[in-house]
Amino acid sequence: MNCHELIDKLEKTHSLDEAEYLQLLSNDLPSYDAEYLRQRARLVTDRYFGRNVRIRGLIEITNVCQNDCYYCGLRHSNQNLKRYTLSNEQILECCRYGHESGFRTFVLQGGENPALTIEKVEEIVKLIHYEFPDSAITLSLGEWSDEAYEIFKNAGATRYLLRQETITLEHYGRLHPDSMSLENRIRCLKTLKRLGYQTGTGIMIGSPFQTVENIVSDLIFMAELQPEMIGIGPFLPHNDTPFGKFEAGKLVLTLKLISILRLMFPYANIPSTTALATLNPQGRILGLQAGANVVMPNLTIENYRKQYSLYNNKAAFGVESAEGLDLLKQELATADLYVTTEKGDFSNV
Ligand code: 5AD
Repeated sequence: MNCHELIDKLEKTHSLDEAEYLQLLSNDLPSYDAEYLRQRARLVTDRYFGRNVRIRGLIEITNVCQNDCYYCGLRHSNQNLKRYTLSNEQILECCRYGHESGFRTFVLQGGENPALTIEKVEEIVKLIHYEFPDSAITLSLGEWSDEAYEIFKNAGATRYLLRQETITLEHYGRLHPDSMSLENRIRCLKTLKRLGYQTGTGIMIGSPFQTVENIVSDLIFMAELQPEMIGIGPFLPHNDTPFGKFEAGKLVLTLKLISILRLMFPYANIPSTTALATLNPQGRILGLQAGANVVMPNLTIENYRKQYSLYNNKAAFGVESAEGLDLLKQELATADLYVTTEKGDFSNV
């Protein structure tokens, strides 16, 4: 089959075999095939979501992290970072401001902070759930025990983001120290699905040592897992990490993968990520035009935003922020896209 036929097959059956994914991904597509893939993916997005873009308010609750991932600026060994943890009251303030502005999903994201106990997470989830019963709570707080995930679920969290980062053992070992394990990451993802969370996963595009074969394995893993949310963005170097001198991931490849993921998962919530917006001034819109249906403006108290430094120059202000919602609306309107304040749960009925 040629690439055009592969795109049609993917749209129709939502899956390809390994060799076919490799064929699609191995080379840059000729521009007519690249544009065809993008158009099919956007048409599918239009069919299920119209021209609506769902918004999620991102609250970066702590930049303390016990892990030492080689790519991430929050890694434990980075001593050039002032660490913070928001109080419950500060988190609730972020939610109040967000709710007032129309947000009906709050994403609590943070490093794996040992001081953030199960009880503390449970408490803040309950507080938010009590004060904003009409809003969804998404957690993005890394790896926990099965019991912890169950407690968070009972407290009112319904969604969880945990990227696999890479499903290839050898590649995983080049991105993470030995103290971390891919096996544990997979255990967490399976538990989240089993507990009935809307589960998000994803990868960085162009992370150091990543091969096309690695990406294909990630797609096949996702096809098995059937995540409700998929977050992908380019790898971006951070100066204070071992990967500070590596090249950033490529825009074209990131957009191509957003489109492929849309055809694989027509109903999934797929964000046009901050990393994509940081890589390229047009990144956010291009991601949406390639098949993303979500943006995640930053609701974190402004003073702390710079300290949540995953990679160099991370966008957190202006259009990328909650106070910039009007700017975001203007930007989206130029592409005939419109913010919806619906809660936007995953649904395939
Ligand atoms: N470049 C791009 N994305 C990164 N993340 C962490 N560090 C980087 C980086 N240097 C992503 C990881 C993580 C998410 C919160 O941020 O994929 O899952």
